[in-house]
Amino acid sequence: MKFTRADFPDGFLFGAATAAYQIEGHSFGGAGPTHWDTFAKGPGNVVRAEDGAIACDHYHRYGEDLDLLRDAGMDAYRFSTSWARVMPDGRTVNPAGLDFYDRLVDAMLERGLKPFQTLYHWELPSALADKGGWMNRDTAEYFGDFTDVITDRIGDRVTSIATINEPWCVAYLSHFLGHHAPGLRDIRAAARAMHHITLAHGIGLSRLRAKGMENCGIVLNFAHTEPADDSAGAARAATRQDAINNRWFIEAITKGTYPAEALEGFGPHMPAGWQDDMALISQPMDFLGVNYYTREMVTTDQGAPWPQITGSAGPGDKTQMGWEIYPDGLREVLVRMARDYVGDLPIYVTENGMAWDDTVENGAVYDPVRTAFVSDHFMAAKQAIAEGANVQGFFYWSLLDNYEWAFGYEKRFGMVHVDFDTLKRTPKASYHALKSAISR
Ligand code: FCB
Repeated sequence: MKFTRADFPDGFLFGAATAAYQIEGHSFGGAGPTHWDTFAKGPGNVVRAEDGAIACDHYHRYGEDLDLLRDAGMDAYRFSTSWARVMPDGRTVNPAGLDFYDRLVDAMLERGLKPFQTLYHWELPSALADKGGWMNRDTAEYFGDFTDVITDRIGDRVTSIATINEPWCVAYLSHFLGHHAPGLRDIRAAARAMHHITLAHGIGLSRLRAKGMENCGIVLNFAHTEPADDSAGAARAATRQDAINNRWFIEAITKGTYPAEALEGFGPHMPAGWQDDMALISQPMDFLGVNYYTREMVTTDQGAPWPQITGSAGPGDKTQMGWEIYPDGLREVLVRMARDYVGDLPIYVTENGMAWDDTVENGAVYDPVRTAFVSDHFMAAKQAIAEGANVQGFFYWSLLDNYEWAFGYEKRFGMVHVDFDTLKRTPKASYHALKSAISR
């Protein structure tokens, strides 16, 4: 790595991130069915129709996994609490689910790891999907009740709480592009989900404040967006894409507005009276989580429905996902967030990482591309700090190879390799490199 802990401000947190459905094993401990379980059973939705039934079996092996974080010298762990585990039908409490997160948080504290919780990382209980999921306003209210239940149990011990992970994926990728559960391609469904997931953030934050919780925020994903060429069509596509992907949620929660370039398409399909929710949605929060992976080049496709965008990866080297490696985009988004939206508010890089087709050879995994990737992205964050962004921590995605949603178990993002037959964990070379860089 080109950096050490000393390159970052005192108290800067080095960590790794995971999410419940991607690692725990949702067939264990009384978790209820989620829309991902059923989406995975639909034709062509998920590679090899894989689901999160076993995943990394973190439900039983969490001690070993938290040892890996501690042994790497990490300060913090970003994890999520599954709604379907805590409330299998979305409404009724499963005591075993609460007990699991209770044990998990204690196990983090025993190892000196700061728990960074995310409330919703996509495992919507099927019973709520049956009622329309995020198209239904009630889901946002029910999310508030889930927030209360889990916070009453572990809120006394977590360092920070994010309401929602990547609302763009929850709403647009899942209801307009159809790539994630529930797999819809419907502008009315998407417009409603775009608002109700934002409302869920507002309701969740109110419930947390009512309990006196501090360090509350949200995790948003950003893609560095550029016009593919000098044409007017490319410029228009870039403006629209930026409005939908990058501006919709941050402007809602910091300014109480949605961008006009996105309302152009969504406006007629929004739930009635959405404007009345914007004050609740834009109440002050304590931090912003930024997930950043890549750059996208876009242009206009006249033959496509609004927003008429077609995109492709940039020209640089690609990861196993086909995503361009573009560290400067991380610097740019961090500086932009500070400058245009959150000022001095703490920002965390809550996800950044890459997939590679890693294999174990003689008991080790050699992943030099990942080591360089991590090094360059940490340096980009350091540069953003120098340019004024109050970045206070960085979580690599992901601790473990895991269930990469529609890609099943094929894409390996982990710093620790997982053999999905034996569930054996093997720290990769990048894990050892990060460990040396951040050792005290
Ligand atoms: C993000 C998700 C995370 C993981 C990474 C690769 O969009 O938050 O669960 O899938 O991408």
